[in-house]
Amino acid sequence: MFNTRVKIKELLASEQTGHEVTVMGWIRTFRNNQFIALNDGSTNNNLQVVVELGLLDEATLKRLTTGASIKVIGEVVASLGKGQKVEVKAKTLEVLGDSDAEKYPLQPKKHSLEFLREKAHLRFRTNTFGSVFRLRNSLAFAVHKFFNEKGFVYLNTPIITSSDAEGAGEMFRVTTLPFDNPPRNEDGSVNYTEDFFGKSTNLTVSGQLEGELGAMAFSEIYTFGPTFRAENSNTTRHLAEFWMIEPEMAFNDIEDNMNLAEEFIQYLIRYAMEHNMEDLEFLDARLADEEKSKPVAERSEFGLIEKLKFVVDNQFERITYTEAIQILLDSPAYKKKKFKYDVAWGIDMQSEHERYLVEKHFKKPVIVTGYPAAIKAFYMRLNDNCEEGKQTVAAMDILAPGIGEIVGGSQREERLDKLEKRMNEMHIPLEEMSWYLDTRRFGSVPHAGFGLGFERMVLFVTGMTNIRDVIPFARTPKNCEF
Ligand code: 4AD
Ligand code: MG
Repeated sequence: MFNTRVKIKELLASEQTGHEVTVMGWIRTFRNNQFIALNDGSTNNNLQVVVELGLLDEATLKRLTTGASIKVIGEVVASLGKGQKVEVKAKTLEVLGDSDAEKYPLQPKKHSLEFLREKAHLRFRTNTFGSVFRLRNSLAFAVHKFFNEKGFVYLNTPIITSSDAEGAGEMFRVTTLPFDNPPRNEDGSVNYTEDFFGKSTNLTVSGQLEGELGAMAFSEIYTFGPTFRAENSNTTRHLAEFWMIEPEMAFNDIEDNMNLAEEFIQYLIRYAMEHNMEDLEFLDARLADEEKSKPVAERSEFGLIEKLKFVVDNQFERITYTEAIQILLDSPAYKKKKFKYDVAWGIDMQSEHERYLVEKHFKKPVIVTGYPAAIKAFYMRLNDNCEEGKQTVAAMDILAPGIGEIVGGSQREERLDKLEKRMNEMHIPLEEMSWYLDTRRFGSVPHAGFGLGFERMVLFVTGMTNIRDVIPFARTPKNCEF
C-alpha cells in the first residue's frame, strides 16, 4: 500500500508530537538546504519539513526544487519557527517527481491572475486558487446538503436537448452532420432528419423546463449541472459554460420562491464561514491588499468576511421593478447623466443600473419583482390587474453587491389558456412543447423556481472579481484551452 500518508491540514491541526508520519506533497520552497515548505492542497498552510545536514547527498538536495513532489517519513516535533506548532524532521525522503526549476512556471513569488489564467493547469498549486477551489467544493457540497435537508429530489436534467428553455436563441448546436457539406432539403435548408437524433439539437441553456416536469410529481426538485450559452459577452460575469442550481417547487408562489432563494444564499455563506474560515481569511487579506492599490474613492467599504457576515445577518431588500426604475430616475447618477444606457419603464436593466441599486442605493442584496412581461421568458406567470400597457410577470431577480444578477426566477404560468396565448404571441411552437403543456393539462398547480449561477455565487463568497478565476477551466468567447 502506497497511501499511508497523513494530510497536512490534519497534521497541522493536531499538537501531538513524538510519533512517526508519512507525508507527501509538492515543494513550495526549499531554504538554506534544510527547510522544505511542503503543500498537499489540503490547506494553504505549508508543512515545514526539516532535512538535517547529512541526511541526503548533494545530488538529492539539488532535486528539492519548487514544484517537485516528495514523500517524507519522519518524526513530528514541536516547531521552533513562527507560524506553526509542529514540523516534521525527515528520516527518509524520496523524490517522486522532479520539477525543473528553470522551466517550472510558478516561481515562489506573486503572479498576476492574468498570468495564472494562462497556466490554469497549474494554478491550483497557488494559495489564491487553492482557497478559491476549496471554497467552490464546499459550496457545491452545501448546495446538496441544503436541499437534501429540505427533502428536495435531486433530478438530473438532460444536457443535450431539442428545446430552447429561455427562448433566447443563444445555443450551441450539437450535431454529427458534416458541417462543410450537410444533407439539405429541397429548399436548401439543412436536413436534420439525417442528424444523429433525427432533429436539430443543442446544449441546454437551463434545466428548468424538465425540472418543472419533476416538480409536478415529486413536489420539490433541484438540478445542479452545467449549462451552456453561446452569448458573445466577454465580461467578468459571463461564461459560455457555467453551472447552475435550479430548484423547482410545486405549491409555491413568488413570495415562497423569494423566501427560499434568500434562505438558500444565506445558508451557503454560513456553511462556508463555518467550514472554510482559513481560506476566507486568506482571501480577505488578499482582497484588502488589492484594495490598497486602488484610489480611496473606489475602495469597498467592507472587507470580505465583514460583507459575508452582513449578508447573513440582514434581510435582503425587496422592491418591484417599477420602484427600481423610479429610484434610478430619481438618482443623482441619472440626473448627472452618469448612466450610459437610458432609464425608462420597460427597459431591460443594464448592469450599471443593477449595480447602482445594490452598491450605491441599498448597499445590500436586492430582490426585484414584477418585471415587464415583454422582456421576460414565456413561462413566467402574468400578473393580474396590471396598469394599461404595463403588463408585468411574477419574475424575481436577486442582485448582489459587486456581482449584479446572481439569481433569476419566477412563479410559472400554470393556467393553460394564458400560457398557450403567450406562447403563440412569442412564436413558440405549441406542438413541439406538448410535453411541457401536459403538466398544465393534467393536474396543474401553482409553482415556482429559480436559477442560481454557481460561479457568480462563488465570486461573491471568494471576493474574486473575474468569473474566469472561480471555475477550473473557463470557456469564454475565443477561449477554450485545456
Ligand atoms: O436568469 P437566467 O437566464 O434564468 C434561467 O435560466 C431560468 N431558467 C432559471 C430558473 O428559473 N430555473 O439564469 C439564471 C442565473 C443568472 O441569474 C446568473 O446568475 C446565471 O444563471 N447566469 C450566468 N452565469 C455565468 N455565465 C453566464 N453566461 C450566465 N447566464 C446566466
Ligand atoms: Mg436572468
